[in-house]
Amino acid sequence: MCGIFAYLNYLIPKKREEILELLVNGLKRLEYRGYDSAGVAVDSAASKDISIIKKTGKVALLEEEIKSRSNELDVSGTVETHCGIAHTRWATHGIPNEVNSHPQRSDPRNGFVVVHNGIITNYKAVQTFLEKKGHVFESETDTEIIAKLIYHFHEQHPNYSFRELVENVVQQLEGAFALCFKSKYFPGECVATRRGSPLLVGIKTATRLATDHIPILYGKEHRPHGRGEFPTLPRTGSTSEFEPLEDKQVEYFFASDASAVIEHTNRVIYFEDDDVAAVKNGSLSIHRVRRGGDDPHKREITTLKMELQQIMKGNYDFFMQKEIFEQPESVINTMRGRMNFENGTVTLGGIKEYIPEIKRCRRLMLIGCGTSYHSAVATRQLLEELTELPVMVELASDFLDRTTPVFRDDVCFFISQSGETADTLMALRYCKLRGALIIGITNTVGSSICRESHCGVHINAGPEIGVASTKAYTSQFISLVMFALVMSEDRLSLRQRRQEIITGLKNLQHQIGEVLKLDNKVKLLAEDLYKKKSLLIMGRGFNFATCLEGALKVKELTYMHSEGIMAGELKHGPLALVDETMPVLMIVMRDPVYNKCMNALQQVTARSGKPILICEEGDQETMSYCQKSLEVPKTVDCLQGILTVIPMQLLSFHIAVLKGCNVDCPRNLAKSVTVE
Ligand code: F6R
Repeated sequence: MCGIFAYLNYLIPKKREEILELLVNGLKRLEYRGYDSAGVAVDSAASKDISIIKKTGKVALLEEEIKSRSNELDVSGTVETHCGIAHTRWATHGIPNEVNSHPQRSDPRNGFVVVHNGIITNYKAVQTFLEKKGHVFESETDTEIIAKLIYHFHEQHPNYSFRELVENVVQQLEGAFALCFKSKYFPGECVATRRGSPLLVGIKTATRLATDHIPILYGKEHRPHGRGEFPTLPRTGSTSEFEPLEDKQVEYFFASDASAVIEHTNRVIYFEDDDVAAVKNGSLSIHRVRRGGDDPHKREITTLKMELQQIMKGNYDFFMQKEIFEQPESVINTMRGRMNFENGTVTLGGIKEYIPEIKRCRRLMLIGCGTSYHSAVATRQLLEELTELPVMVELASDFLDRTTPVFRDDVCFFISQSGETADTLMALRYCKLRGALIIGITNTVGSSICRESHCGVHINAGPEIGVASTKAYTSQFISLVMFALVMSEDRLSLRQRRQEIITGLKNLQHQIGEVLKLDNKVKLLAEDLYKKKSLLIMGRGFNFATCLEGALKVKELTYMHSEGIMAGELKHGPLALVDETMPVLMIVMRDPVYNKCMNALQQVTARSGKPILICEEGDQETMSYCQKSLEVPKTVDCLQGILTVIPMQLLSFHIAVLKGCNVDCPRNLAKSVTVE
């Protein structure tokens, strides 16, 4: 998904080379989000104009391009105050090429330039209007209308401030966006805004900031007025327009997420939808055109706890590999401060006050996309068992397509690693509007899902950078298990069951460590499989979710066809696929559906299938039916899926490496899917 990074230095002399390096490094930190081209805009050395450098492909290519133009860019020159904007683009409108890359510009003289994350749904109408006014479009993007529209307003209202121009532009836009603007008419200024796509600003000053929040400045209540298709807003006046920060020398880092900012500062402000943030004369101000209902009238400056090394690869070759091997620690972080193994209690601070209300609800709905959805599938059976409530598990997109009935006494969980997934966020808003209680299960503090939920559980898995989700899945799984335990704390009849689950959770760290020791064995299996065209993964009961999640991992990382099959469905169709050449992997654990799984295994072997098994450590009897098997430690049935999914994560990883696929950024995919 597109990434925005902008850097503004005020009264801090910087070489152009340093600024360009900083912008490129910011983009490198956002690479994990997925992209296909990149670009930057900085002040030109020779004139007051803006230089735009764009390149299709990786950020490293953009870096080379910048180096090859170092004379023209006067990289050794120094600037005291400067604003540079940068972008990684993930193509939505128009193919990945240089013209379609961002920054997009207003006119051939680069009067205004803009970077955009999201989609403008009414861009055709705006484009038609602007074309009638004589603007000539050069790209196929929806973004170009933004650059041209601000130029149009500037021509109409030459005395409007940069921020006022942006406010007028966003009045006309429909869709989802985070935007960062730069202009040759407003040197040293930057204006940024968002609606539906994430955006934050990092603030760095030489001395500690004297304030922990920035007040919001509201426009007067008014309706747009003026002539033509795009009536403009009246000027909001200059009263306390810019609240100066204490320290005059200051640097600002605008970014789509904190990973691009954290190496510079840990003091950040997360913008809300419709905030317009402007930096002028080194001061940051946040404006809103209209006063919102429960708006807190200020934006807090948050101190990030995330450390840079947390988001670096460490000793691993790939982020995904590092994240798979981090799971013994990440599961502990999910449980830290929540599970008390001594006295068998569980506390989820983020939802504690809502538990009585949740216990009175009509049903639980678990909503998410992709891997996050699979964590709901994995825990549904336990939630039904321990809460005795109906539990619906929904893919966010399908849930919205169906305009599913939702009621005030429903409790809706929104599960999302990034906390920004557009479909999940829209489903959240849909349920909130209908009065349901909204619980966010996310890994990203300050994300939209976090902020818009009534309460929630932060899964604390740590930053997940590989596009394929791994440690977030196991942490989401555990968070939902802990919720089930909280819901059943006063149920005497469930005492023994709860205790065996709590003991299972306690042993997980060690057992995950044991599963990870299978790495070499899994690699050998990957060598057998990586040239195959397809892989069927079969299982049922508590391990069905592992089949779905394993197949998703194989597909997205290796581009090989893979399907997670409910073993109970074999005879209803999938069995036709099985012969001696079709690779099949089966999960057969000694749980309540063991006999049924064995039945499925026999159906497969009877068709000359040669399944690879994932089974319980030491289960010789089951292993005697197959030539190859991976043994995982036994845990309580409802947690077994955490241990069976790890060999699948490893298998997809090794196949991807053997096939030479891009493990951390699979083709066509993005880490944070902020568009529908
Ligand atoms: C697969 C994967 C995706 C995400 C999905 C939802 O490995 O990562 O399927 O799980 O795009 O993303 P989040 O969890 O950020 O809402």
